[in-house]
Amino acid sequence: MPIDDRFIDELTARCDIVDIVSRYVTLKKSGNNYFGLCPFHNEKTASFSVAPDKQIFYCFGCGAGGGPIRFIMDIEGLEFSDAVRFLAKQYNMEVPETGGNPRRQQERKRVLAALKDAARFFYAQLHSPSGAQALQYFRQRRLTKRTMGNFGLGYAPDSFHALLDAMTAKGYTKDELQAAGLIACSQKGTYYDQFRNRVMFPIIDVRGDVIGFGGRVMDDSKPKYLNSTETMVFNKRRNLFAMNLAKKTKSEYFLLAEGYMDVIALHQAGFDSAVASLGTALTDEQARLLTRYTKTVIICYDADTAGQTAAQRAIDILKKAGLRVKILRIPGAKDPDEFIQTKGAEAFRKLIERSDNDVRYRIASAREKYDFTEDDQRILFLREAAGIIAALDNPVERDVYTASTAKLAGVTQTAFQQEVKNAQTRIQYRQKRQYHRQVRAPAQAIQPKESSIHYDNVRSARAEEGLLSLLFSDAALLSDMREKVQPEDFSSPVLGKIYEHAIALFDSGRSITVSALESVLQPEEIQLLVTALRVQIPADRRNRAMEDYIDIIAEQKAARDIPGQDSEDPLLRKAYIQRKNKRFDGTEG
Ligand code: UTP
Ligand code: MN
Repeated sequence: MPIDDRFIDELTARCDIVDIVSRYVTLKKSGNNYFGLCPFHNEKTASFSVAPDKQIFYCFGCGAGGGPIRFIMDIEGLEFSDAVRFLAKQYNMEVPETGGNPRRQQERKRVLAALKDAARFFYAQLHSPSGAQALQYFRQRRLTKRTMGNFGLGYAPDSFHALLDAMTAKGYTKDELQAAGLIACSQKGTYYDQFRNRVMFPIIDVRGDVIGFGGRVMDDSKPKYLNSTETMVFNKRRNLFAMNLAKKTKSEYFLLAEGYMDVIALHQAGFDSAVASLGTALTDEQARLLTRYTKTVIICYDADTAGQTAAQRAIDILKKAGLRVKILRIPGAKDPDEFIQTKGAEAFRKLIERSDNDVRYRIASAREKYDFTEDDQRILFLREAAGIIAALDNPVERDVYTASTAKLAGVTQTAFQQEVKNAQTRIQYRQKRQYHRQVRAPAQAIQPKESSIHYDNVRSARAEEGLLSLLFSDAALLSDMREKVQPEDFSSPVLGKIYEHAIALFDSGRSITVSALESVLQPEEIQLLVTALRVQIPADRRNRAMEDYIDIIAEQKAARDIPGQDSEDPLLRKAYIQRKNKRFDGTEG
């Protein structure tokens, strides 16, 4: 039975290709993309990659590629509709034909109710005789009764069925409890409590619903924290710990910490805008969530190298979301919790006041790497700092940091200014060259890997691929694009067909994604498309790239057809004018 297109759209919007592929392949991040060993052919070097921005995977080695549905089809050996069902199940979505929305709504309600009742159960356990040790644990970490209450902290007893029994008695079914991520099923088919003998931290969303839990051991055993699995109500990437409390803050900034315990200690010390991500690195979605409540985020990650590396990444993510970022360093303690316990809330407030903005933080981090008593090290530092400053868009900011950095390293401002200018030139040159390589002069005349598809005109085909790549990155370009280029203008029939399908998707109000085309294109066509989508063009150059691609397509089309100044075809007219201009300014050899 065919599956509703809109459902496929909804599913692909919910899916995250990195999560899906990670279940089968160990991925490492590099730039915007992830790399790993291809699961579809034997290899020793990683030629398999995943691009989260376009939600696709591809392998340079064997040519496999596609969207999340394709990946599941290939790796699980499933048909299209079964792969859709397989993914839908993982994301707790109901494929439409088996029942409508009301039922899903009802299920969601039950899951939320179960989570709330479970939180109550854990809370009651903490304050019962069986929770004595847990209560002692929290006390030893200096949490007050009030803090425990505010966060709804609890205790999951040391039993495989304490929660299961209590919740069954309240009328919840095993299915509901499992859907809530509270119980799991063993291979033998017996159900058991997911959280046992752990202190419990409920995760509550901005609406005030309990959506999941983090559970911590009370000793040094591993894993230290267990977090709820993803369920129909719990998405780790889209929520932040303590957001339910922090959203009420009067503070102008938010504090972003790494650990649940850090957040709790911060709130207890009066910093009521502290939040943390949920056991994973900060995501774009979380940064976007923050923008709804604040303009400034102060990162207060752990002092160790892991924390500082994570901070560098968080800076980029927060800035990309348009937030002002400051970074707080914690001297003499491993994290905010320890700092507050040893030095007190006032001392922490001073750290906030002294926190650096991201540029100063980066320069200071660079400073720490070099020994200024050695001249050549000072020069290396200046070079690195110049790179940081040159990347700033704002000339006033560049000036300010140029001055302070010159002073820091004890050189004249004029000398260092020159260094920054050089770095700027290098950056501009690199950008220009990269752009030129990608857009104007794409990598030689390579035919597609798919042997069944041949490009008659490689130069035009590369530009056509480029247009598609732009379109799949930013569908808003379509209205302009479709006025200037028609599918028939494409030299490659396959690429032209894809363009036509993309337009059809857009016109029917759907989003332009690889997954949406998987039911209408042949696997080798999908592979070709995915290869084409590898081209990455920064958002601020997309319009210009589009024009360049269109010029190339026009020029190649003109070479095929006879160009004329009174041609009916706007593309041919454009090509005619182009030629004339070229001849006029003598750039053509
Ligand atoms: P930390 O180990 O810094 O946590 O990990 P913490 O909350 O400060 O714990 P304490 O102070 O040692 O009690 C930071 C965060 O990483 C996630 C949790 O969200 C934790 O709060 N984490 C850590 C896990 O999800 N699993 C783990 O095994 C460890
Ligand atoms: Mn910690």
